[in-house]
Amino acid sequence: MLILLVAIKDIFMKKSILFTLMLILSPLSAFSQKEIVQGTQWLDTAGNPINAHGGGILYHDGKYYWYGEYKKGETILPDWATWECYRTDVTGVSCYSSPDMLNWTFEGIVLPAVTDDSDHDLHTSKVLERPKVVYNKKTCKFVMWAHVESADYSKAAAGVAVSDSPTGPFKYLGSFRPNDAMSRDQTIFVDDDGKAYQFASSENNATLYINELADDYLRPTGKFTRNFIGESREAPAVFKHDGKYYLLSSGCTGWDPNQAELAVADSIMGEWKTIGDPCTGKDADKTFYAQSTYVQPVYGKKDLVIAMFDRWNKTDLENSRYVWLPLNFDNGKITIPWIEKWSPAVYPDK
Ligand code: DGJ
Repeated sequence: MLILLVAIKDIFMKKSILFTLMLILSPLSAFSQKEIVQGTQWLDTAGNPINAHGGGILYHDGKYYWYGEYKKGETILPDWATWECYRTDVTGVSCYSSPDMLNWTFEGIVLPAVTDDSDHDLHTSKVLERPKVVYNKKTCKFVMWAHVESADYSKAAAGVAVSDSPTGPFKYLGSFRPNDAMSRDQTIFVDDDGKAYQFASSENNATLYINELADDYLRPTGKFTRNFIGESREAPAVFKHDGKYYLLSSGCTGWDPNQAELAVADSIMGEWKTIGDPCTGKDADKTFYAQSTYVQPVYGKKDLVIAMFDRWNKTDLENSRYVWLPLNFDNGKITIPWIEKWSPAVYPDK
C-alpha cells in the first residue's frame, strides 16, 4: 500500500514539475508580435524567419493566409546571364496563417518544387514567382495562380493549381500563356460579384493585360484588355475602395527598386487612369527601396488597408525583407506615407 502511495505521489510530482516547466517555457516558444517594423527580419509564431516573397493574402473564414515564394538557399547569377537574373532554386510556395495580419503561423510548403523531372514547370531549376490564391465559391476550390518561368525568363507563363483547403496541398494543373500573351508579374483580383481577373505584365513587360477568368477561375474567358501600353509596369496589386478600382504597380528595373504608381478605374475592363506616385516621405521615390506585391484590407478595422511590398536583397534573395504600410485615405486622395513601425491594433474597430 505504502509503495502504491509513493508511486502515485511520484507521478503527481513529475506531472506538476512538467506542467510548471511548460508554463515557464510557453511564452518563449510562442513568438508574438506587437508591431510591424519595416525591413527587419519578421518571425513566425515558432520563431523562424517568415519566408513568403512576392506574396498575396487570402482572407477566408475569419483567417488570413499569406502565400509567397519560399526562397531557400544560395542566390546565384548563372554563367550565361546577360542581365541581373539572380535566382535561388525553386523550393515551392509557402503558406502562413494569422488571425490579425501580425502573428503568422507556418502552414508548410503548399505547392512544393519538383525534384525528379527537369522538364516540369516546378522543377528546382526553374523560376516560380508571385503566387496568389483565391477562393471560388461555386466550385468550393482554392485556386492558385503563379508566374512560372524558365531560368532565363523566356517562358513567361502562368501556372494554375487547386486545393480543397487553404493550407493545401495544391495540385498543379499546368501552365499556359493567357490569351496567347506573355504573362510574368501577376496578381488575381476577385470582384464583389464573384468574377475574377488576372492582371499580368505582358508583351515583354511593356503592357499590362487584364484577363477575365472563367467561372471556375482556372482559365481566361478570352476577354482581355491591354493597359498602360509601352509603360512597362510590373508588380501589380489591385484593390477596390468606395466603388472604384485601384492598381498599384512598380516600374521595370529587375530586382532594383523604382518609383511606384497608382491608377484608378470605374470598371475593371474599362479605362485605367494613372494618378501618380502614392508614396510619401523618406525614400518615397524608390518605393521605400521595395516593390509592391499585394494590397489587403483588414476586416473589422475601420479604413485599415495594408499595402504589402518586398524589399529585395538581390544577391541573397532568401534574406529579402518586407515593408507593409497602411494606406491613407484623405478626402478621396490615397497616399502611402512612410512609417518606420506601426501596429494594426491601434486602428479603431468598425
Ligand atoms: C521584377 C519582378 O517584379 C520580380 O518578381 C522578379 O521577376 C524580378 N523582376 C526578376 O528580376
